[in-house]
Amino acid sequence: MKLSLPILLTFTSLILSFSLKAAKGIEEALFTWTDSPSTTLNVIWLVKDKDPTLFLWGQADQKDTQSTNVKRHSFYKGSGLEVCQVQLTGLSPSTGYRIFLGDKEFRARTLPSKRPDRISFVTGGDMMHSPDFHKGGVKAMASRSPHFALLGGDLAYANGQSWERWLDWIEEYADHAVSEDGYSIPFIVAIGNHEVNGGYGKTPKEAPMFYNLFPFPQKLKSYYTIDLYEDLSVVILDSSHTYTIESQVEFLKSSLSSRKDRTHLFALYHFPAYGIMKGGLNSPISKSMRKHWVPLFDQYGLDAAFENDHHVYKRSKLLKGDKVNQDGTLYIGDGAWGVKTRKPGAKEYWYVEKFEPTRHVIEVEIKDNIRTYRAINHDKKVFDEFVDKRDAD
Ligand SMILES: [Fe+2]
Ligand SMILES: [Fe+2]
Repeated sequence: MKLSLPILLTFTSLILSFSLKAAKGIEEALFTWTDSPSTTLNVIWLVKDKDPTLFLWGQADQKDTQSTNVKRHSFYKGSGLEVCQVQLTGLSPSTGYRIFLGDKEFRARTLPSKRPDRISFVTGGDMMHSPDFHKGGVKAMASRSPHFALLGGDLAYANGQSWERWLDWIEEYADHAVSEDGYSIPFIVAIGNHEVNGGYGKTPKEAPMFYNLFPFPQKLKSYYTIDLYEDLSVVILDSSHTYTIESQVEFLKSSLSSRKDRTHLFALYHFPAYGIMKGGLNSPISKSMRKHWVPLFDQYGLDAAFENDHHVYKRSKLLKGDKVNQDGTLYIGDGAWGVKTRKPGAKEYWYVEKFEPTRHVIEVEIKDNIRTYRAINHDKKVFDEFVDKRDAD
């Protein structure tokens, strides 16, 4: 068969656009922390199952690179992709590192060993109804130059099945969650209902990509604690997606009780205890969280809980004992990083200070032990701010 030139050209461009599309999100490095941010970095990336593992790393200001052991396993059955994971340990604090996946270079930085007087991070969830919305949130985050990010679930909206969505999520994050000088923003991750086939009341088996992609301190455990500094910890919880609320109570109690003297103590999870959509305080999940978790937040002086899922911006009043109390916890969210927002039905809620259906990320800046929470929209503008001086120097 003889093909005419126009047909041949069409074929060629089809093949070219397919291979470009197939390359999206593959061999793009993500950096996470499950341990000390000053001496470790986790690197994760996807490769095609037939491709070799290519990984080299070194300090950014040095020429030498070295190899290391890469863990490699399936991403999702039928995807033809595998996950590669490396944990770099024994790193120098406040130091830039570069890694090479083949000829692609990525950079990330460790944090100082002693907490700097000023540190900032960005939090948010419900990230990707569309890759463009996701990108808008990532760029809003990067505009604040945070040291790291806390991601509160509903990342790629893959529902434990649509693995291709992760390629877009990874591509946008890896391309745009980058500082002006080219360093990636490492993150810590919590699970949401859209990581899970079935959403609620399931097990890790129903969230294969989430558990395959991200490393955790304990295998298949979506709830864990990270001690970023001796005065700054984050407890990550699973709001009834692959573990029940009740099953995490013992963990939460021991985690918080041993850290009650930390100046800055935060929780990160997906479904809100103090939400204003989906039934608000009458939602069975909210009720269960307020029965089992919130009394522990109260008892051990949690400073803020980062909540998500409701696709709206919300900042609570300070709450303790299910009442407004100046010694209480701030509940802030609620997951509108890169999704179509929802409009709450009521004009006010007794437990809420401010709400707004705006896509946003939340910056948390700690300076002189003053915690400032800022809501940043996709135009990179601050549209809400709350200053907590209760632990000020
Ligand atoms: Fe969501
Ligand atoms: Fe959700």
